[in-house]
Order: sequence, then structure tokens, then C-alpha cells
Amino acid sequence: MAVRGEPPKQGAAMRTLGIIGSGNIGAAVARLAVAADIAVVIANSRGPQSLTELVDELGTRATAGTIEQAARAGEETLLSIPLTAYRSLPADLLRGRTVLDTGNYYPHRDGRIAALDSEEVTTTELARQLLPGALLVKAFNNILAHHIPQLARPNGSPDRSALPIAGDAPDAKARAAELIDRLGFDTVDAGTLDRSWRFEPESGAYTHIYLADPEVPAGHMLQAPAAPLPADRLRAVLETAHRAKVADRTF
Ligand SMILES: NC(=O)c1ccc[n+]([C@@H]2O[C@H](COP(=O)([O-])OP(=O)(O)OC[C@H]3O[C@@H](n4cnc5c(N)ncnc54)[C@H](OP(=O)(O)O)[C@@H]3O)[C@@H](O)[C@H]2O)c1
Repeated sequence: MAVRGEPPKQGAAMRTLGIIGSGNIGAAVARLAVAADIAVVIANSRGPQSLTELVDELGTRATAGTIEQAARAGEETLLSIPLTAYRSLPADLLRGRTVLDTGNYYPHRDGRIAALDSEEVTTTELARQLLPGALLVKAFNNILAHHIPQLARPNGSPDRSALPIAGDAPDAKARAAELIDRLGFDTVDAGTLDRSWRFEPESGAYTHIYLADPEVPAGHMLQAPAAPLPADRLRAVLETAHRAKVADRTF
């Protein structure tokens, strides 16, 4: 049962985004969504009662729900949980839905995953195997959570930043692009999921590209401010990205 906050408005023009994962990225995107007049149904692993504070902060457009409620809510779902948790999701509920996957592979957190270490699949191709029928779009995975509010701008702003998206379903990718535009970013189509390694960790089109000072040492990135990254510069970075040797990753 959903708790706290007003239920999203039915009918009319109120768009709803389901968010599974209420951590750094999930909460940052939720803040953008309510600011853009999009209703949010947000879930985590501990249940709706643990989301009281966040939903109070987000205001009346936000509702805390179960994972099933977030998966069923609205037109799109943002999935922002560790890779290891994908297997526990209600895959049937996500079938046919546009699912924005923010996930990355960190062996230190996720354990070693042979299909990723062998480069047989990219992270979101793995998600596609685990969530059959979901229309996966990789998005919001290459930007640090604290840079999201720093860089979000209304459409038409001269200092707007772009995020890469990748997906195999053109309609879902178009929906994701339209949603992300409302949330405050341009998008660059980085192709299909098999090419989405171009904006995974260590690829070259990963988090440091949004840093005001790209030379900031890795240990200071969480405090470092962001600077806008326009779409043409992101396109150029994607062109020169290289596939990381994931099997050598130690973090
Ligand atoms: N942090 C960043 O700057 C950043 C940037 C780009 C991409 N990413 C990627 O985005 C994903 C999320 O990162 P994050 O930093 O937002 O993570 P986080 O702060 O650790 O939050 C993870 C969220 O996932 C929820 N969760 C865990 N297991 C779950 C399950 N079985 N079912 C439903 N929810 C579950 C957690 O629930 P509880 O709150 O109940 O524990 C928590 O809300 C990761 O794959 C990460 O690699 C992160």
C-alpha cells in the first residue's frame, strides 16, 4: 500500500514516473521529476515506510510505494539499484515498459559477473536478459548523482548539458529522450545497447566529463563541482571512447 504524499493525479496531463531505488541517483531524478510537474512513485528495498522523509521533501507529487507499485506506475520506470538486485525485481510487471537503467558494474560491490568480464554483453544487455520484455534504455549512469541537480536546466538554456542514451527499442528511446528533456537535459543517441559500453565506467564518456576541472583526482570527485557539457562535445567524446577491460576492474 502506498503511504505518504498525495496519490498521483489520475487522467489529465499528469505524467507519472515509477522509480525503483531511492538512493543517490533515484532521489536526484525524483527531485527533477517533481520540479517538472511529473508525479513520482518511488520504492526501495526497505519498503514505503522508510521513505517518509524523502517523500515529505519531494512534496505532493511524490508517493512512496512498493517495488510492484513503482513498477506498475506511469509510463516509464527508472531503475536505480545495484546490479545484484535486478534478479529480485518483478520482471513481468516491467514487460513492455520503458525502463531507464542507471546501472553500472562495480565488481567490488556486485561481485564478478562472467558475462560482463568476458565482454560478451554490456551491463544493460545483462539487464535485458534479467528483465525479459522490458524496453531498456541506458541513461543517467554516466553522471555523478550530485552533478544531476547542478547541471539540470530548462529546455532552451544556453548552458544545458547532454546525457547519452542507448537502447534497442527506438520508441522507448524516444520516450526516454522526451522524459529526460523534461527533467532538464538534452540527450545524445549513443546507439544500441551493445554499444553502450561507450559511456560505462573507464570508457572515456563517464562521470569525469561533467567535472568543471577534469583533472580533479578521483578521490575528490564527490566534492568537485560540475560544468555544462553540450551535446556536440558529448558526441565527440563518445566517438573516441574505448572499451574498458572490465575483467581488470578492481573497484
Ligand atoms: N551514485 C552515483 O553517483 C551513480 C552515478 C551513476 C550511476 N550509478 C549507478 O546507479 C545505480 C544506483 O546507484 P546509487 O548510488 O543511487 O545507489 P544507492 O545510493 O546505493 O541506492 C541504491 C538503492 O537501491 C535500492 N535497492 C537495493 N536493492 C534493492 C532491491 N532488491 N529492490 C529494490 N530496491 C533495491 C536501495 O534500497 P534501500 O534504500 O532500501 O537500501 C537504495 O534505495 C547503481 O548501479 C550505480 O552504480 C550511481
